[in-house]
Amino acid sequence: MISPKKYAKPAKTIPKGYKTANEFFNFVFNDEDMIWMGQNTNHLHDENQIMDSMMHSIKKRDYNKYPPPEGFPELKELILKDLGLQNEFDILVTAGGTESLYLCTNDILAPEDNTITCDPGYLIIDNFASRFGDHVKSVPIYNEECGYKLTPELVRENMDDNTKLISLVDPLNPLGSSYTKEELKEFADIALDNDIYLLNDITYRDFAEDHHLMAKIAPEHTVTVYSFSKIYGMAGMRIGGVIGVPEVIKSIKSIVINDLGTNVVSQRGAIAAVKSKKEWLGHIKNTTRSNQEIIKKAVDQVEGAFIPVYPSNGNMLAIDIYNTNVTPLAISKYLLDRKVFTREGSYTSKVFGHRYLRVSFSIPPEDVKYFAKIFVEGMNILKSSK
Ligand SMILES: Cc1ncc(COP(=O)(O)O)c(C=O)c1O
Repeated sequence: MISPKKYAKPAKTIPKGYKTANEFFNFVFNDEDMIWMGQNTNHLHDENQIMDSMMHSIKKRDYNKYPPPEGFPELKELILKDLGLQNEFDILVTAGGTESLYLCTNDILAPEDNTITCDPGYLIIDNFASRFGDHVKSVPIYNEECGYKLTPELVRENMDDNTKLISLVDPLNPLGSSYTKEELKEFADIALDNDIYLLNDITYRDFAEDHHLMAKIAPEHTVTVYSFSKIYGMAGMRIGGVIGVPEVIKSIKSIVINDLGTNVVSQRGAIAAVKSKKEWLGHIKNTTRSNQEIIKKAVDQVEGAFIPVYPSNGNMLAIDIYNTNVTPLAISKYLLDRKVFTREGSYTSKVFGHRYLRVSFSIPPEDVKYFAKIFVEGMNILKSSK
């Protein structure tokens, strides 16, 4: 008999009325009126070349064939060019950044190795790292002192002789904090001095005002995880990749999962997405910035609520409501009942999940305004019902 494995997992609460998380997801997914602020996805793309190229690919039945297993060379080159990385790097195209995260942890960690992550953070990394290594040290970072992010000092304090991997999600889901070049240089020194790998997940990079790549500072010690789910608005297409020096990518290829390659239609869309990026990036960044301002104004109206990292460098932020005595679960349910899907903190934190609600804002401004209105209304109602 096999039984479910017990790796680090977010404390997911299944809303009342649903038997499983999957059933709940199926409900929110299929509700076309639902405002999607719960998964940091991007709903700001109009009909554009990304959609056209995927339609074209379907019409010519590209999908009858298997693609080249490591990704179309054109896509590989475009991603490297997008990052300003040269041919000293290689890339493997995968089904989302998630598959790349799995491959990196599988490849880098031996059973005795330890990983450093942070809390709040992207918990599937902890889960994957705990499958392949020994333990995961999830460092609490929810405080002003460390700037709501992992600092080189915190890493030094928490590492041990077996630390092999440090997770640097930049900008960080759920807080939107981001690293300076100086901090990255210090992380690089730590990695070089101790033979550690840096897992640089740059899923939200293009929403940031200013962003620096770890790969440019410590190329030999960095694996970079790239996603088409957020800025490119292609979450459902499940496409991303992992970039590293050829030696590292060669090693990752030896444990590959999708031996027959990644979805052809997604890759066609991804090629068009990188090629057309200059045309729409400004619009998406401006909209997410002004959407954040709408949210900030609403939060400022609720006594006791605040945004720990503002502005966020991602397309999501956390709203701390601990001092209002309203729980993240209560407000997320209030919002869901009014067709706004958000996430309570427990999805991205084991320690601080009871303090905040995470909302993403790469959605049309009128939807953000609706959220702002019902958030303030809901917080007032829930406060007074205490
Ligand atoms: C930090 C981070 N990495 C990776 C992912 C997943 O990316 P993908 O959809 O490309 O698998 C997410 C999704 O929310 C994320 O927040």
